Amino acid sequence: MTEFPEITVAGKTAVVVGGTSGIGEGIALAFADDGADVVATSRTEAAVADTAEKIRGYGVETLEQTCDVTDYSSIEALRDSVLETFGQVDILVNSVGTAARTEFLDLSEEGWLDVIDVLLNGVFRSCQAFAREMDEGSIINISSMSADLARSRLMPYCAAKAGVNSLTQCAAKELAPDVRVNAIAPGFVMTPLTKEEYAEGTEIRKQVDDRTPVGRVADREEIVGSAIYLGSEAASFTTGEVVYVDGGFTKNAL
Ligand SMILES: NC(=O)c1ccc[n+]([C@@H]2O[C@H](COP(=O)([O-])OP(=O)(O)OC[C@H]3O[C@@H](n4cnc5c(N)ncnc54)[C@H](OP(=O)(O)O)[C@@H]3O)[C@@H](O)[C@H]2O)c1
Repeated sequence: MTEFPEITVAGKTAVVVGGTSGIGEGIALAFADDGADVVATSRTEAAVADTAEKIRGYGVETLEQTCDVTDYSSIEALRDSVLETFGQVDILVNSVGTAARTEFLDLSEEGWLDVIDVLLNGVFRSCQAFAREMDEGSIINISSMSADLARSRLMPYCAAKAGVNSLTQCAAKELAPDVRVNAIAPGFVMTPLTKEEYAEGTEIRKQVDDRTPVGRVADREEIVGSAIYLGSEAASFTTGEVVYVDGGFTKNAL
């Protein structure tokens, strides 16, 4: 009988940057639940400790270390600690988030640069720092369906995410065949970043529900399956890809 690869990350070591909240934390906990050792990091010590406690609850190993993706040396320090503790990194997830809504003509240069620095340059720094020490494995960048959309007052966000998709494709080509690089493009997901905007009863929530074929916003738990797949051996021929998890929003036409 043919043996098919399992969709699992059990036994792997994963790092989730931006892993202490929302989608990133959801992925970190799902990886831990599946049997991976997981390091979930962000800028805030208390948040790192809180998520580490949840990860340990699944009976796997973790490490508590903060990291700021705007600072290359803090990513290198994180990488070196993970390598010292676990010997290797098999999966890197980049899920750092920030939101600032401003009209194009009111957007300051600083406002533009800040978003690009966190969401695009941060993914560059993290991918490069970790890839330099990964013999093989999987990198998963959390992009957004906004990469393909003209979202209101979100120009730097949309542009950064389009950049993340492009970076993902180029890195996939250069790091092949040993390290696969893919992106996940979520649609509207309820997280601490979005919970006020997408709260029940708001105008934007009504529009989201109306225009999304699945008819609602997603829970973060609905994004993790694609991350487990991309991190697993079952995705061994998938690289440079953007996986849309958007309830059909981007393909919805009249
Ligand atoms: N929610 C959605 O509807 C949605 C849709 C599409 C795509 N996405 C994408 O999914 C990703 C996660 O979003 P989310 O909604 O889960 O956001 P979230 O709940 O706000 O989580 C963002 C995480 O990033 C960390 N972070 C922020 N700045 C950082 C920095 N400079 N260095 C390191 N960590 C930093 C935060 O922790 P600290 O503040 O402690 O650093 C937090 O752990 C983002 O890339 C977002 O664009 C979200």
